[in-house]
Amino acid sequence: MHDKADGVHEPNLHDRVRALRWTGQGLEVLDQRKLPDETEYALCTTARQVAGAISQMQVRGAPAIGIAAAYGIALAARQRYGDTPEHWRQAIEEDFEVLSRSRPTAVNLFWALERMRKCMERLRRDPFPPLLAEALAIHQEDIAANRLMGTLGAELIGAARGVLTHCNTGSLATGGFGTALGVIRTLWRHTPPLQIYATETRPWLQGARLTLWELEQDRIPATLIADSAAAFLMRQEKIQWVIVGADRIAANGDCANKIGTFNLAVAAKRHGVRFMVVAPVSTIDWSLPHGDRIPIEERDEAELLPSHYHGNPAIQAWNPVFDVTPAELIDAIVTNEGVVSGPSTEAMRDLCERCSK
Ligand code: MRU
Repeated sequence: MHDKADGVHEPNLHDRVRALRWTGQGLEVLDQRKLPDETEYALCTTARQVAGAISQMQVRGAPAIGIAAAYGIALAARQRYGDTPEHWRQAIEEDFEVLSRSRPTAVNLFWALERMRKCMERLRRDPFPPLLAEALAIHQEDIAANRLMGTLGAELIGAARGVLTHCNTGSLATGGFGTALGVIRTLWRHTPPLQIYATETRPWLQGARLTLWELEQDRIPATLIADSAAAFLMRQEKIQWVIVGADRIAANGDCANKIGTFNLAVAAKRHGVRFMVVAPVSTIDWSLPHGDRIPIEERDEAELLPSHYHGNPAIQAWNPVFDVTPAELIDAIVTNEGVVSGPSTEAMRDLCERCSK
């Protein structure tokens, strides 16, 4: 489970899991479809295999998708330059295309591809070593960003008796440590006793299967609730904060995240529970003025519909896998460039200025 390549897993920080591991041969991806029953890594040696692992959700979570795509470009460079050293630049365009079509909502995918393209433009000789170095840097930087956001988010919260998180935003969804789960890890270490609640996150069960497994590996206790129990939990004053990640944040602070996040924000507002989004600035899409423009992925109805109904023309399912929480329902967006309290277009603009310095 430990990543020998990054050398930065730290059991003392309750941070043992790595979903992505570079081995000299290729990218090993922890198959998240099989967790928690099986812990199995799949080896990807081509960009096409990485794109398949992303679209089939062997690897998932916005930052992890971006990091995997970066390794995918390094693998593509190795293959294309090996095949035709004089034409690798034209040939690799197909790999950019395949990777960019792997999932639509997480903007980290496009951010990472853009960063790899910029790196590629500077290259003259064998592109593999520098592109691999860039992918490894993206991976390392993500872990460092998560650690920083963990500290910033935990400081903002101070003391809490209970927190609720949705989906999986931990080491499984990032380079390591996690965004929202990174804040929760940090809080748990510094302000015990903390009761951590995780939603099931239907229909794919990122909470029930992945967050619980990850916390179990790190010996952090947690309580699972059905998604539909969240408002009742708040009503009983069991939590003070909801802490979630994001797949894409618009320039006004509207946040797209796992389906059901919006429901949690509405319920939180009703009950005076505070709402935090934790995401690196690579999750912000400055080109979108508001969240209505964020492309929302709709996945196969078979992921939602009981198999009994498959093929029945009278029964359908609608399966959007993300929703958008309006900025006005969010108390704070915690990023690796600082905290935006009460997000708005103006407050986000200040963050943008900070990023460009
Ligand atoms: O469909 P998924 O599992 O890729 O969705 C993941 C999420 O919605 C996460 O909350 C988000 O990517 C942030 S992960 C740090």
